[in-house]
Amino acid sequence: MAEKALAGTVALVTGASRGIGTAIVSQLAERGAHVFALARDSEKLAQIQSELGGSCTCVPCDLGSSEALIDLRHEILRTWGRLDVVVGNAAIMGPRTALSALDEQAWCDVVNTNLTANWRLIRHFDSLLRAAPHGRALFLTSGAGSRARMVPQRGAYAISKAALDALARTYASETEGTNLRVMLCNPGPTRTGLRAQAAPDEDPMTLPTPAQVASKLIALCLPSWNESGRLYDYPQDRLLDFHGPN
Ligand SMILES: NC(=O)c1ccc[n+]([C@@H]2O[C@H](COP(=O)([O-])OP(=O)(O)OC[C@H]3O[C@@H](n4cnc5c(N)ncnc54)[C@H](OP(=O)(O)O)[C@@H]3O)[C@@H](O)[C@H]2O)c1
Repeated sequence: MAEKALAGTVALVTGASRGIGTAIVSQLAERGAHVFALARDSEKLAQIQSELGGSCTCVPCDLGSSEALIDLRHEILRTWGRLDVVVGNAAIMGPRTALSALDEQAWCDVVNTNLTANWRLIRHFDSLLRAAPHGRALFLTSGAGSRARMVPQRGAYAISKAALDALARTYASETEGTNLRVMLCNPGPTRTGLRAQAAPDEDPMTLPTPAQVASKLIALCLPSWNESGRLYDYPQDRLLDFHGPN
């Protein structure tokens, strides 16, 4: 039985309908948080709702615009009056295509989901996170965004993750001296649909499960977590710092 370190707190997780997001929702609920679980697939969300019962509120929505988030902010304030943890996890891979051949709509969809939707979380939930006694914001990034030599054919995804790293680090700088801690996490290759799309020839059984990854990431959401503006790398199980080009 997990320690209820998040008892009485409220969390929000995007990309909650499958993969790492579903596992994070379960881990947060196990530790006592009430979790708002966001994704588009309402059937998958309904399953999660029935498994977790009253410790979860599922919110079917598309993160491609602010509309649902504005309503949700009002709803969270009305029903709970607080928000302690935000996990920006939703992402799409987009086509495996060279930049020069990428369809414009595909580019916009990847940037909107992987980057702008996370800025929207900051835009709409910042004041609640700052007001929380131990506000925590965690963004799921990828090693694809921070390689010295960028991998070809993954352009939009890798670029969106590089920009997400900058977004989270900027937010960490802007919230220095507050109770809010902002972290990035690279889960590394994990047994999910997104990974199968990125590496179709790989044997998924060789990869860690979302539950294994989430059991480590959860530490970054707890009141005891004290770092901000850094990257937790699951494959190396350590915290990494950012450096300028050298
Ligand atoms: N798996 C890996 O190997 C790996 C490696 C490095 C980094 N990551 C990162 O880890 C995070 C989770 O990845 P995953 O592998 O668990 O992915 P996944 O299984 O494909 O799940 C992605 C989630 O994002 C949601 N989503 C996508 N577009 C959305 C939109 N417009 N509005 C609302 N929700 C949306 C999906 O739900 P709906 O379709 O229901 O909306 C789904 O719940 C991502 O940020 C990913 O980049 C994963």
